[in-house]
Amino acid sequence: MTTTTDTGVLAARFQETFGAAPDGVWQAPGRVNLIGEHTDYNEGFVLPFAIDKTAKVALRVRDDSAVRLLSTFGGHGLVEADLSDLEPGTGEGWSRYPLGVAWALKERGIDVPGFDLLLDSDVPLGAGLSSSHAIECAVISALNELTGAGLPAEELVLATQCAENVYVGAPTGIMDQSASLRGAKGQAVFLDCRDQHVDLVPFDAEASGLVLLVIDTKVSHSHADGGYASRRASCELGAEILGVKALRDVGVERLEEASGLLDETTLKRVRHVVTENDRVLQTVEVLGRKGPASIGGLLDASHVSMRDDFEISCPELDLAVDTSRANGAIGARMTGGGFGGSAIALTPVGQEQQVRDAVVRSFAEAGYNAPDIFTVTPAAGARRLA
Ligand code: GLA
Repeated sequence: MTTTTDTGVLAARFQETFGAAPDGVWQAPGRVNLIGEHTDYNEGFVLPFAIDKTAKVALRVRDDSAVRLLSTFGGHGLVEADLSDLEPGTGEGWSRYPLGVAWALKERGIDVPGFDLLLDSDVPLGAGLSSSHAIECAVISALNELTGAGLPAEELVLATQCAENVYVGAPTGIMDQSASLRGAKGQAVFLDCRDQHVDLVPFDAEASGLVLLVIDTKVSHSHADGGYASRRASCELGAEILGVKALRDVGVERLEEASGLLDETTLKRVRHVVTENDRVLQTVEVLGRKGPASIGGLLDASHVSMRDDFEISCPELDLAVDTSRANGAIGARMTGGGFGGSAIALTPVGQEQQVRDAVVRSFAEAGYNAPDIFTVTPAAGARRLA
């Protein structure tokens, strides 16, 4: 899934496939998370940004309830469905994302017509960069406009979360779609997941002589699998025992007391979330005062917390992080849900090649698949292209 079809070419291909021009073309980005992992469903803080890798959809509404879906990257060929038959779980592979979004909008009382859709995306699949949310956010932007629903971003975020949680069956939070819908060029999205308040925080690594490298370990992950859900359950148990609505309401000063109340595993999960929330706030504060060169230690601490307390890293992610740090990165951590996917490494421009070479070498020596390594910068959120 590494196509970057030009908007005009995508529209022309839509016309060839479906016999009429699309109503428009919409685009939505994937994301990396700078810091704040597994804090979103604990009503805490996150600091992701939209990346310059996007899903694009050419879409045309129909005058019946049929849905026809095709992608430029093959996969399942032409997928056909009918909106009146949709039930959670219907569809395969990527088709569940547009179908889930249509279903979630209908559940919210929006009169969604049938539609034809051609998808193109260069957000790598399964790399922990929110390829699924990029698709969902492009589709929901299109349907929000074409149905005249005009829902605000906060509602679109909740509708895509419903699509993921109920239709696709992945019990995820609101970080990814918030970054995709509300991101802006040059800015990280500081999101309070309790009330969806957003502050955009400038993140200009280049001006500080740095690049943010993404190391896709090629270990694929799936949030519909058990690990993510079991972490979420531990957090909910911890909150219940500590007598709070969500772990957001537990400060670092309560950790000692918590150690007397929680079993060892729950305590570790809680400690990660509580300290991670604190690290997000510290990151925002030092970014504002001193810029990106000052956040390396916080990124490192976040990784250690995910590796040892939340236990969602894997040997490939640890190797990517450790090798990056040993070769000049000033901070590195896994990003996203974990159990595979990508790491990020904040690296001085002059060390970039050394980090890349060392990571590739260490993966080869360990007998792992070759990683994919690229830089990202904060890019615009979802928008209409044509
Ligand atoms: C996935 C989920 C998000 C968030 C992260 C972990 O990306 O989709 O909601 O929970 O994992 O921070």
